This record gives sequence, structure tokens and C-alpha cells, in this order.
Amino acid sequence: MAKDFSTMEDSNRSSNPTIHDLSDPGRRSLLRGGVGAAAAGLLAPLSGLATLAGCATIGSGAPLGFIGFKSVPVSSADSVLVPEGYSVQVIAAWGEPVGVSGENPAFKPDASNTAAEQEVQMGAHHDGIHYFAQNGSTSGLLVMNHEYVDDGLLHPDGMKTWTAQKVRKAQAAHGVSVIEVEQKNGRWELVRPSPWARRITANTPMSISGSAAGHALLRTAADPAGQRVLGTFNNCASGITPWGTYLTCEENFINYFKGPDQPDPHQQRWGLRKGDPAGYRWHEHDERFDATKHPNEPNRFGWVVEIDPFNPSSMPVKRSSLGRAAHEGATVGVTKDGRAVVYMGEDARFEYIYKFVSRDKIQPGGASANASLLDHGTLFVARFDADGSGQWIALVHGQGPLTAANGFADQGEVLIKTRQASDRLGATKMDRPEWIAIDAAGWVYCTLTNNSNRGAANMPGVDAANPRANNTMGHIIRWKDDGDFDGARFQWNHFVLAGDPSNTRAEAQGNVKGDAFACPDGLWVDGRGVLWIECDISTSALGQGDYARVGNNCLLAADTRSGEIRRFLVGPSGCELTGATGTPDGRTMFVNIQHPGESPSERSDPDNPRRISNWPDQLPNGRPRSATVVIRKNDGGLIGT
Ligand code: FEO
Ligand code: CA
Ligand code: CA
Repeated sequence: MAKDFSTMEDSNRSSNPTIHDLSDPGRRSLLRGGVGAAAAGLLAPLSGLATLAGCATIGSGAPLGFIGFKSVPVSSADSVLVPEGYSVQVIAAWGEPVGVSGENPAFKPDASNTAAEQEVQMGAHHDGIHYFAQNGSTSGLLVMNHEYVDDGLLHPDGMKTWTAQKVRKAQAAHGVSVIEVEQKNGRWELVRPSPWARRITANTPMSISGSAAGHALLRTAADPAGQRVLGTFNNCASGITPWGTYLTCEENFINYFKGPDQPDPHQQRWGLRKGDPAGYRWHEHDERFDATKHPNEPNRFGWVVEIDPFNPSSMPVKRSSLGRAAHEGATVGVTKDGRAVVYMGEDARFEYIYKFVSRDKIQPGGASANASLLDHGTLFVARFDADGSGQWIALVHGQGPLTAANGFADQGEVLIKTRQASDRLGATKMDRPEWIAIDAAGWVYCTLTNNSNRGAANMPGVDAANPRANNTMGHIIRWKDDGDFDGARFQWNHFVLAGDPSNTRAEAQGNVKGDAFACPDGLWVDGRGVLWIECDISTSALGQGDYARVGNNCLLAADTRSGEIRRFLVGPSGCELTGATGTPDGRTMFVNIQHPGESPSERSDPDNPRRISNWPDQLPNGRPRSATVVIRKNDGGLIGT
């Protein structure tokens, strides 16, 4: 989640109904016990995995989904805690040079690196990540997102002065990094220089493809054709494609724009606010971020962007046919006949879950052979019904209410106004859908990180899919599409309601079978079928109220066969756990630690940058830095066993 240093977006005032008013509390207790779910056939994934367990193993024969480590305790220390028998190595911290040939500026602990230096260094606030193998499990490319910045840490004097150089540096610390990494004797290092090393920032030219490309609502003075955008930012979760590309998701993009005194209905629906409430102050030195002057510029963000990491000169592409949203995650499944299905969450209160089904089949031949695969297909939004089934509803211009009379001139406008279209279609308002992961049996898991406004005055009440009022702890929902990933209907249940049984408030206790946790965000199913869950309790709430006894944000492993969940790693003070990935042999895991040291209520104080955390460097004159941690088992064994 990008902290917006003021308020969290909550823009869905649509009156779409609300079949969910049919909420069924009885169903929830049945699902907790599992009996009702079993009766409804909802435990199919368990039998599916049991079948796989006998044959699908990696290396030393640990069964699929098996977790064997001893849980780490709750911690509020400024360090990374892992189980006995495991080790942690820090790489690729913010400011490390990525390895562009001839450009190797060292990180300066006082944050005095220039904007030009930042453009060839690791960005800030690491998030989604993927390991693309080159030489199996010993060398490859790590591609990762840099979601946002804390200007109090990014510049020696924070925001006391504000200059074009500082804006340029902040923009350069956003986006995506591509780095080459290799393992030597169990230690991982960046390869520098590397022909693949690359930074993509808030100023990198990229194209817009798909059904909204060139649309009037995407045209600006600088780009009258509406087909070429500068940059990507607030890149949160990520995904990969079967043809070897990386998908980066533009999440809370709206916070970077200065809005008019009276935002129009479209702007309101997307959370554009008067002035510059989040205070990034880019518009003061870069006019395109002033939406009062360039009202279409925000429409050019909120997309899933495809990047080919193996072609460093390739231009990233914003895939408009996947819809516009505060995107969090783009997780690809493949239908039996070879088409791509992209599952996507939108992380804002009461927003929706989507899937895109490609028209065409994936072709052999990698990225070049599938360069337009994500441009043709159908976007759907999810409606979760109280009986445990659900419906994918197509967002197609001319169908149902998506007509010109209702404000959708064409398919491009449907895609640019995906939220408004989904409102019209009666999609289910969810508790902040974040990451999505698919298990070996075809169940699709989505974290619903929290929603303290659920059930509040004048807000949507609980429903079957979002069953807790004042949902501080979050939950993980899962579904299986009927027949195949392109199924029009699905069956769903709750994998877990997060919580802490020692809480007095019943709605914050959860039903975790294992270690208490809150606010699930990142999700990753590894090659053995372990479901990894990463937590993001906001820094303003860490250690308080319902979160008093769950410590710093952590990473947990779940066995989807039994539902058991164990705490695997606890992060340093003030951080959240974001992306996770690993090598094909299952023996190295890469985990991103984002915003160690984040202040509960404001940007960091440049005069006291180490107030909350000094991880990972612990230098007397340094500052906390987001970084990737490499997790290995001391005996070289499989991670999670
Ligand atoms: Fe950027 Fe929804 O986390
Ligand atoms: Ca989050
Ligand atoms: Ca997230």
C-alpha cells in the first residue's frame, strides 16, 4: 500500500446493489468449520493437492505444500528474524547501482545522491518481484517494483526545500529495476555491469496498447495521439506471463496529481482530491501532474504495464484491455486450450476483483510471438454470491448498461472508467483486494487486506464474501472457476479470516489455524505449492489495538491442504513485507522488505532519519532502506521445510 500521508482512498459511492445484502452469517460459521464447505464441494482443492502430493516434489522429496520449519516468534525488533537453520542476506537495497555499463554511483548514506545517479540506482520502496532464471537456480534476472518514496529519507534535508532536482530524483526512485544476480557458494551478488541492468522510472517513455489506445480521454497536449506516456509509478504488486515478461501494476497513482477545487464525477470516482493532499508536490516542478491543467493525464495511469526484461531496449507497454484500476497484482493462469487469463485486484476500499481472458492462444516463441496477446480479449468483474458461487460479468461496450446513454461512448471509455462500469454491473465491493495467487489445483487466492469502513455509518455492510464489520484484520478468499480459468461462474470460500484469538473484539479474532497475523497483502505459491502470505499492517496502527500482540509485519507459510499457517519471517521496525519469489530449485527465496522505519503519521524527519529503524545498514550516519533479503537454508535444503 502506498502510504499517501493523509487519507486512504475510499471513492466508491456507487449504489450498486447488493445482492450482498443477502449476507449469510450462518455460512460463515460453516466455512470456518469446513463442514458446510465440504458439503458444498468446496474442498475440492484439498483432494486435488492430495493427488499431487504423491508425485509433485522438488529435489529432496518434500511433499507438495509441506511446511516443516519451527515458527519464529512475534517480534518488534529492528531486524529480520527467520527460523532456526535459515540465514538472511541483504541485497539490492535502495541506492545500490543496478549495473548499467559505465554508471556505477555508490549509495551515499546521507542521501546526497543526485537525480541522475538515482536513475541508475535501485529505486525506493521495493514491492512486487520475480526471479527470471537464466542459468537455472544459479543466475538470473531479478525484476522488481519500487512503489513510492519517503521524501524525508530520499533527500538530505527532506522537503525543507523543494526543487526540480528533488522531483526528478523522486520520480527516478519510482518504477521498476532489472538487475542480474548470481549465486556463488550460497551467497547472491549483483552482476555489474550487466547488459540487462535497467531502470524504468516515472519518466521512461512507454506506449499504450489495446482497446483504449488513442482514446480522446488519453490525449494530452504533450501526446495528442494518446498513445505514448511518460513513466509508471506507484508500482505495487506484479505478475509474470508464460512468455517470459513482467507485469507491473500501477496502484495509487491518483495521489500524485493535484486536483481541482471541485473534482468532476469521474475524478471523484477515482479519488482525485482538491490540491495535492498526499503532498508529493511533483506538480510544482512538473506541470503534467497538475490535473487542473492536464485533466487527462491521470487517465494515463492505473494500468498494468508489460515489460520484457530480456530486451533492455524494449519499450514498456500499458495494456489498456486489462482495464484501469488502482491495480494490485496481475496473476496469469493458462486455460487448457492455451489462452491467458489475468486475475487482478484493485486495492482500495470497496473496489473490485477482475479477470481478463485473452482471445488468442499463447504462441511458442516468447515475448515477440505474444507481443499483442494482452491487447485482445474480454475483461470481467467478479460478483460473489451468498450461496458460495459467483459470476464473472463482462465489461463489454453495448452489453447491459454499458451504453453511450449511460456515459460509455465506446469500449475505450469502458476501460478508462472501469470502476464506473463495474458499479453499473453490480460487482461485489471488496475489502481491498491485493495480491492474487493460483495453486496447483487451480484455486485462485486473493488477499483482502482490511477495511475498517466495512459496516460503518453510510458505508456498505457486511456480505458473504466480506463478512466482518470494521474488518481490521483482513482475510483471504479463494475461488475456482467452473470448468477452466475462463469459466463464467465460480465457486468460492474463505481460505482464512486473519486475526488474533486473544483480541477481545470477536470480529478481530479470526480463524487462523496456526500463528496469529493481520492484514494479508502479498501472496505467492512456490514451486512446492506452499502459499506464502505477506503482511501489511499500516505503520499508523502497528502494535496498537487489534494489532497489539502480532508484532512487526511478517511473512507466513500456509499449507493449503490442511490450512495450517506458520510465521516464517518477521521484518524490521516500520516495514511491510511485499514481493516474494524464488529459484526453480526451491532453495533460494527472495523477499522484499519495504519502508523500514516508516513513521506512523508523517514522512520521516530528515533530522532524525533513524528514529524508528536503521535497517539494514545500522550505520551511525545512515538511514533505513528498502531492500531484498535472500533466504537460504543453512544445509542448502528446500525453503519452508
Ligand atoms: Fe501497494 Fe495495496 O499495496
Ligand atoms: Ca497493502
Ligand atoms: Ca500491496
